[in-house]
Amino acid sequence: DFDARVARIASTIRVIPDFPKPGIMFQDITTMLLNPEAFRDTIDLFVERYKDKGITVIAGVEARGFIFGPTIALALNAKFIPLRKPKKLPGEVISEEYSLEYGTDKIEMHVGAVEPNDRAVVVDDLIATGGTLCAAVKLIERAGAEVVECACVIELPELKGRDKLGNKPVFVLVKAD
Ligand code: PRP
Repeated sequence: DFDARVARIASTIRVIPDFPKPGIMFQDITTMLLNPEAFRDTIDLFVERYKDKGITVIAGVEARGFIFGPTIALALNAKFIPLRKPKKLPGEVISEEYSLEYGTDKIEMHVGAVEPNDRAVVVDDLIATGGTLCAAVKLIERAGAEVVECACVIELPELKGRDKLGNKPVFVLVKAD
């Protein structure tokens, strides 16, 4: 069932203290990727949630949204759109600045990647302050499409990232403490 699969997923996520800076407890999903059952369960839980919801776009946030997003997109027969760090996308882009748990950054999306009738889900490994997902939602909505929900493997609830997303729903599998 759902809880058993989530428990197995949670057990495969490694926490690395003081990375990339002192005081940050880094939630490392690469150890989950070493466990095909847990990796598959992660993909399946997202696909089960979004199948039959008319989702036409999965937008993955660089870098770890690229690990989960494409497989989910293919299972849903949806487009996959990479949301990238600055100056990586070769075509015409729109950009959004955001503040990170550590520093500030910007994400970009190709013009024409989404269309006004699209229904999108934004996928990433983790929501911390929510700045990244907030910028991702703004990018897609500026292009005229609807963001139905954001989906992450892990949430750091203490950082209250959901507050930054306002009334945009955030679906997470694992809450870290
Ligand atoms: C991490 C994580 C999310 C973001 C969440 O990415 O993968 O994308 O931070 O933080 P927020 O909710 O406070 O915005 P990171 O900055 O490590 O970039 P990377 O994936 O390119 O390594």
